[in-house]
Amino acid sequence: MKHLRAKKPLSLLMEEMKGENRLRRVLGPVQLTSLGIGCIIGTGIFVLTGIAAHDKAGPALIVSFLVAGLACIFSALCYAEFASLAPVAGSAYTYAYATLGELFAWIIGWDLVLEYTVASATVAHGWSHYFQNFIGIFRLKIPEALSRAPFDFSPELGRLVSTGTVMDVPAIVITAAITIILVIGIKESASFNTAMVVVKVAVVLFVIVVGAFYVNPDNWSPFAPFGFSGISFFGKTLIGPAGLGGEPLGMMAGAGMIFFAYIGFDSVSTHAEEARNPQRDVPIGIIASLVICTILYIAVSAILTGMVPYDQINIDAPVAEAFRAVGLPWAQFIISLGAMAGITSVLLVLMLSQPRVFLAMARDGMVPSGVFGAVHPRYRTPWKSTILTGGVVALLAAFIPLRVLAELVNIGTLLAFLIVCAAVLIMRKTDPDAPRPFRCPWVPWVPFAGIATCLLLMFSLPTENWLRLLVWLLIGFVIYVSYGRHRSILAQHRARAAALPPQKTPPLK
Ligand code: ALA
Repeated sequence: MKHLRAKKPLSLLMEEMKGENRLRRVLGPVQLTSLGIGCIIGTGIFVLTGIAAHDKAGPALIVSFLVAGLACIFSALCYAEFASLAPVAGSAYTYAYATLGELFAWIIGWDLVLEYTVASATVAHGWSHYFQNFIGIFRLKIPEALSRAPFDFSPELGRLVSTGTVMDVPAIVITAAITIILVIGIKESASFNTAMVVVKVAVVLFVIVVGAFYVNPDNWSPFAPFGFSGISFFGKTLIGPAGLGGEPLGMMAGAGMIFFAYIGFDSVSTHAEEARNPQRDVPIGIIASLVICTILYIAVSAILTGMVPYDQINIDAPVAEAFRAVGLPWAQFIISLGAMAGITSVLLVLMLSQPRVFLAMARDGMVPSGVFGAVHPRYRTPWKSTILTGGVVALLAAFIPLRVLAELVNIGTLLAFLIVCAAVLIMRKTDPDAPRPFRCPWVPWVPFAGIATCLLLMFSLPTENWLRLLVWLLIGFVIYVSYGRHRSILAQHRARAAALPPQKTPPLK
């Protein structure tokens, strides 16, 4: 049991940064904030707002965005403290290794796969929806069989139903294109991302400013047709109404779903190793990107629910369709284009983050370093794991539907946030004097608030997500027991130490 709790010392983390097999330090505060925004604004606001307003929250979606944003701000402050304390690749995985021990680190690393790889597949679907909406303006159409995943969850029937299609081909194509860009290099990827961010923020501002002229305040009433709650406990809806499938409904249930829209600010911390001045700039990147996006989201959700009655909001491409519905087809063109650019950058950053978490895990011997630890000699990118990630994302995006993926990502990410909040509390006790260029304010209250709000959002998601999360974690546990537990660098150090006479045991710095 003891070695499951073995921790990786901070000094060792910093030591590793001096080696050759590391990434280039090229990112400044603007690029980091832009990577954050690049990863945040995408499928959540452009696609999931439709499902969340239509099926779960109505106009109270505006409050859902506020609640989910609050949970993220608490967690972001904790992430920022850690990122300044240990500015290396690996994000929450690395923080957990330094504080909670090897088993927890593995759990969170495995959980981050859920966040980044599975979220990428969700986002690729969102891109596909807007791409099809866009070419639809020119009366073009992808053959039905190749337009979406072969099954979907029907809220009316409360179960999975066949869609009569084979797979989502546009989602596969965009995933392949992004994989190629990512292999070529972080600098090129960051510039490409900045261009995409400029386009999407411009489109979001366009939606807010132009849409404001088409808001009909009557559409905001009733404001919360499903109520302000929506919390369940393992299948029993405790507070608020339940849908046909037993899933919770209401403002909180909407928050559980659109939490997806905020995922990504934490990805800034996965780039700490590539930041020029990580201790200062990574906290700036995390907090600035989150605050900017929260403000934009609340405004967009108010406009969208004000433009179209909530029960008529389109669930595939809600923002673009809202503008068509008020008689502005040219705006539909601009929005679809902006949404595609926006969602592309989310995909780019998510798929950029996953291999960097794997890289950190490979360095620790938790996953095979031949594949996950390989840095390309010329491009200096983790190319093998980037290609592997791209392949898995394409497969998931081709066959699994958007809602199922999105909810699974949410519960996994909420768990990661919760662990980071807890880890800040633990680290303040175990390592009170470690230099923290950024300190989370009002400790322990902010981490406690982060833990509480994340748990609340987890319980606002349909129960089957808990089961899926559990199965996912069990699979991860089996992999850890059969691989990482014996192969981790700390395990090997222990084995060597055990083989030496006691007085010669080399100290682990
Ligand atoms: N927050 C990202 C999006 O909404 C994952 O697409």
